[in-house]
Amino acid sequence: MWYAVRIGPVWRDGEVVSAMLIARDVSERKRLEEMKDNLIRDVSHELRTPLAKVQMSLELLMELVEAAEIDRERTGRIAGLATNNVARLLETVEGILDLSRLEAGIWSYQLEVLDLGELLYEAYGYMHSLAQVKGLDLEADFAQDLPPVEGDREKLFRVLVNLVDNAIKFTSEGSVRLGARVRDGEVEVAVADTGEGISGENVGRVFERFFQEQVGAQGAGIGLAICRAIVEGHGGRIWAESGGRDQGAVFRFTLPMVEGEGL
Ligand SMILES: Nc1ncnc2c1ncn2[C@@H]1O[C@H](COP(=O)(O)OP(=O)(O)O)[C@@H](O)[C@H]1O
Ligand SMILES: [Mg+2]
Repeated sequence: MWYAVRIGPVWRDGEVVSAMLIARDVSERKRLEEMKDNLIRDVSHELRTPLAKVQMSLELLMELVEAAEIDRERTGRIAGLATNNVARLLETVEGILDLSRLEAGIWSYQLEVLDLGELLYEAYGYMHSLAQVKGLDLEADFAQDLPPVEGDREKLFRVLVNLVDNAIKFTSEGSVRLGARVRDGEVEVAVADTGEGISGENVGRVFERFFQEQVGAQGAGIGLAICRAIVEGHGGRIWAESGGRDQGAVFRFTLPMVEGEGL
């Protein structure tokens, strides 16, 4: 708890008769300030590396141009490096914007009663070819009669796509299974893979913004933070399970069921 405290004398007939102390709870303000400081620190850190690479590439290109030494292969490679890093920067910045909109609660949810099975099939169809290209089986493993849930279609679709995308990215052999079931009055969705897994101490950390087990891995480390913000925005929970390195990983999230009738 943080307090802002003010102490002052209490005067009566020109004399100090007592002192007054006013304490105000400023924990919330302090928490917001800390959040902002952390965000600024993390963002600057994340933007620095790709920006430095873009700058370096452009400087090299300038040197080549000035020396009129146009080597197509080399200039192409340098321009490619700059372009890739600019794309990565844009992706990071867009992710950060989305995340802060979600966390600040200014990105409104378009809630509707959803057929979860349909949404899962849509995500399955959307990611199928990506899995195929990597030689992985994408399996759909859920009941036909899943109960309806109330949610924002676009945002929940994004959660599913993010989780399946990660599963494919971190799996070099085997399969990715998209499942759902009803458990303890909630719907639980699971994305399970046979990939590289997550080491025990990091299972809880993967949802932190910018956290990546492998430094310099592709991506910006924001996808799961966005997933968590969306799931929690729906009143659900999200977590990861893994037996450790090379044991595969399972990501699960819950959604509250709609009261009353079905669709
Ligand atoms: N299916 C998975 N298997 C193993 N590790 C994973 C999986 N999904 C996420 N991770 C770990 O969590 C980190 C954060 O994931 P995410 O927020 O989506 O960022 P990104 O995909 O950009 O790295 C990943 O870099 C990886 O270390
Ligand atoms: Mg990701």
